[in-house]
Amino acid sequence: MTKPISILLSLLALARTTAAEPVLTIEAGKPAAHVSPILYGLMTEEINHSYDGGLYAELIQNRAFLDNSHRPVHWAVVENAGAASISLDTNQPLNEKLPVSLRMDASAASPTNPAALANDGYWGIPVFPSTRYHASFYARANASGPIIVTLAGNDGTTVYAQAKVKHIAAGWNHYELSLKTRAGFKPTDKAKFVLAVEHPGTVWFSLVSLFPPTWKNQPNGFRKDLMQMLVDLHPKFLRFPGGNYVEGDTIATRFNWKETIGPISQRHGHRGPWGYRSTDGMGLPDFLRWCQDMGAEPVLAVYAGYSLRGDHVKPGADLEPFVQDALDEIEYVTGPATTKWGAQRAADGHPKPYPLHYVEIGNEDWFDKSYSYDARFAQFYNAIKSKYPDIQCISTVGNEQPSERRVHSRQPDLLDEHYYRNAQTFLDDSAHFDNYDRHGPQIFVGEWAAYETPYVPWDSRSAKKPPTPNMTSALADAAWMTAMERNSDVVRMQCYAPLLVNVNPGARQWRPNLIGYNGLRCFGSPSYYAIRMFSGNLGNEILKATLDDSMLHYSVTRNNRTGEIFIKLVNPQSSSQSLGLEIKGVRLKSTGTAITLAAPADASNSIDDPTNVVPVRSKVTNVTPVFHYTLPANSITVLQFFILR
Ligand code: AHR
Repeated sequence: MTKPISILLSLLALARTTAAEPVLTIEAGKPAAHVSPILYGLMTEEINHSYDGGLYAELIQNRAFLDNSHRPVHWAVVENAGAASISLDTNQPLNEKLPVSLRMDASAASPTNPAALANDGYWGIPVFPSTRYHASFYARANASGPIIVTLAGNDGTTVYAQAKVKHIAAGWNHYELSLKTRAGFKPTDKAKFVLAVEHPGTVWFSLVSLFPPTWKNQPNGFRKDLMQMLVDLHPKFLRFPGGNYVEGDTIATRFNWKETIGPISQRHGHRGPWGYRSTDGMGLPDFLRWCQDMGAEPVLAVYAGYSLRGDHVKPGADLEPFVQDALDEIEYVTGPATTKWGAQRAADGHPKPYPLHYVEIGNEDWFDKSYSYDARFAQFYNAIKSKYPDIQCISTVGNEQPSERRVHSRQPDLLDEHYYRNAQTFLDDSAHFDNYDRHGPQIFVGEWAAYETPYVPWDSRSAKKPPTPNMTSALADAAWMTAMERNSDVVRMQCYAPLLVNVNPGARQWRPNLIGYNGLRCFGSPSYYAIRMFSGNLGNEILKATLDDSMLHYSVTRNNRTGEIFIKLVNPQSSSQSLGLEIKGVRLKSTGTAITLAAPADASNSIDDPTNVVPVRSKVTNVTPVFHYTLPANSITVLQFFILR
């Protein structure tokens, strides 16, 4: 077709639109910029029982008896069995790192009437039929006889699986058992883990552990269903270990990575800033394995000398040990096995170095009232760049913060900006990055999320709201993603936060969160599906597009290898909206695909209704360079068209 005729047809086609119909004009022939190849990633920290009681598949809560220094919380003597008492004992430590054991004194016990103690897990021990569990514990005893290990119902009579250790020796030994549940029952979390003795005497326990089958059957592994949900998001990076979690409330309770490596019997754990203790079962080696399993690269946050309650380490000599810790940490991640910390990584099971291109220096250092961040950043930056010139250093203070809080003495490679905003604010600000300086540092939107409440997520009223966002927030999240995607020449990386929430009562500290779960199952919020739709349909080039006068939000990209064009459209209005699409500069295949997430504004998913709001895939026919498409009310749409070559 010659050019004037095609223009005429375009005009005629658009003339058929109603006066109110907006038109999205797409220059599909030549790209405006490149899409960042690592735009979509994940942010994670120990919050809302993300790891312990979450992704980290350990089922025993307080496995090393360190959660409370007075009482063996989550452990209890089983009533109706023989007679026993339990107590914390610091006189029989397993080792320096696990200095407390659980002492069980059985005063009456027999094979028909054993004395027993039980762990109630993280809001129950989830038990599935015909499933093999791996139990292990350290124990020593002053009496002979077996230990019976049972996965039992809370009713006191149901037995799902049982196995026996024939004899416990007088000194500390490690015992491992396989527990295969029987068939023919409904999965339940109304269960407990029981250790029983058949003879009177004293037994000490340490590091009692129970794992279900894990992702790729790895020891010390991850929950399978949650890993699948994360993999389905196609993350290109994982930002860890926080967030506030890297900082800690105090310098002493920071994420001290050197305490999180080696076997779990050498990990003391620590108190995190979100009100509970972490086992550190999810340590640095495990974060790295997690990245690898998802095909994501690490974005490593290093402790930078500032903690949440306001302590800071003075730049200069005082800060030097922390800078050295960061250099050691980078060596642990990237160094060959011939280096000190590379050798440690190899000893921890991973001889091959991991890729590492991004290191974030601290977290939200704009809170540091001493204004020491510029100098602290500079000290880390100099040390890292001189040893690892290719590593990109991320400042935690972005353009959304006052200038006096930002780093000026160095040019950070990237700035981490955080946006927790009311849904309407995201919708109103979707041009946010359009005018960002293309010559300044690139942007890492390291935490963002819309909330549908009139108050901020950290307001105490949030505790009464559902743990995950509803469709109103998903629409705003999608609009915000179009803003970042359209500008992904400057927005290099972005990740929603927080990622995970255990939905059991008392488990969470924050809302909204992307993915919810209890011990038995998990679900994605509408925002989860929006991110999945976006990250799975990205392409590598940004196409210039203009939308006239509209309430809609858009981003258009193409894949120059496959010829796919991805048009992302968000209609946050409560009525459907017809849209004119004018795709210039290419010829298109006549059929395409639409993926649509549409639901009433207050609709959501939950643990009991996990798929109320999910995307629907449909065929689009009669695709022409100029055509009309109707976007449903409250909808997020990805149109996938194909360029004819
Ligand atoms: O995502 C929850 C918290 O919000 C993060 O830990 C912190 O960085 C931010 O303030």
